[in-house]
Amino acid sequence: MSDFKSLTDCYTLSNGVKIPCVGFGTWQTKSGDEAENSVKWALESGYRHIDTAWIYGNEESVGKAIKDSGIPRDQYFVTTKIFNRHRGYKDTIEMFETSLKNLGLFYVDLYLIHWPNPLHFRNAFPRILSGTWRAMEDIYKEGRARAIGVSNFCVRHLDALFEYAEIKPHVNQIRLGPGDTKDDVVYYSRKNGLLLEAYSPLGTGELLKSPELKEIADKYNKSVAQLCIRWSIQMGFLPLPKSVTKERIEENTNVFDFEISQDDVRAMWLLKGNADTWHPDFVPW
Ligand code: A2P
Repeated sequence: MSDFKSLTDCYTLSNGVKIPCVGFGTWQTKSGDEAENSVKWALESGYRHIDTAWIYGNEESVGKAIKDSGIPRDQYFVTTKIFNRHRGYKDTIEMFETSLKNLGLFYVDLYLIHWPNPLHFRNAFPRILSGTWRAMEDIYKEGRARAIGVSNFCVRHLDALFEYAEIKPHVNQIRLGPGDTKDDVVYYSRKNGLLLEAYSPLGTGELLKSPELKEIADKYNKSVAQLCIRWSIQMGFLPLPKSVTKERIEENTNVFDFEISQDDVRAMWLLKGNADTWHPDFVPW
């Protein structure tokens, strides 16, 4: 079940900040025309939540498309993330300011640590994280990010952070989709008040080839993409579907006029073949 009726309906973070229930993903979207056009189309289709990251290299294009839309600042939600070579207090503040400048914004709505255990600092993450998190907390206290959080964090990374966090992260953004439900992280994040954002809710497009999902989608007269996005919402996740194609961007917004049955939600939860192969302690970046 979900009470959401449109893209502008919101989850409420643990600090009271409202966050639109579906975000527009921009990972693998090229800077320049591709990012500018896709964000423009997303805003025209009703999205008010855009997810980017410094490492995507498209912050400037995302910022330009948002600015050109003329939508008032308090009516859209922007997330960006600090990448792996940048850790510690000073670097974090500097990278945050770089992202603000790239986006052309005075504040972001959500700032995330992109990965918990960077290759460059591998396995020193509890110490490296502490300075980074202190900077995130200061950015938050100054009102330059309305919420702060993490991405790709497993239970042990969250535990390390909780050792010294004065402010608990508001969000954990992880890869989640049918057959990739990371139940331990989801349970632990929720127990600690973090909202789960789901990146790659379409399995970077791979899920769209699944005959099992196609069979379920047909029952509801929906596309597999719509089914996956709807499933994510019904699971209580905040999906971040990515597309650079106008028709698909629009198609992916039509997810509020049907309800997936509990049996089908479960069948999707149990789907085989969509396991995440990127463990954050072993990624080569
Ligand atoms: P494209 O960007 O070329 O339109 P995810 O959100 O899981 O990362 O998946 C993104 C991938 O899924 C991209 O390759 C995107 O293609 C594709 N995609 C997104 N929406 C749809 C859709 N409605 N139909 C088909 N493919 C889609």
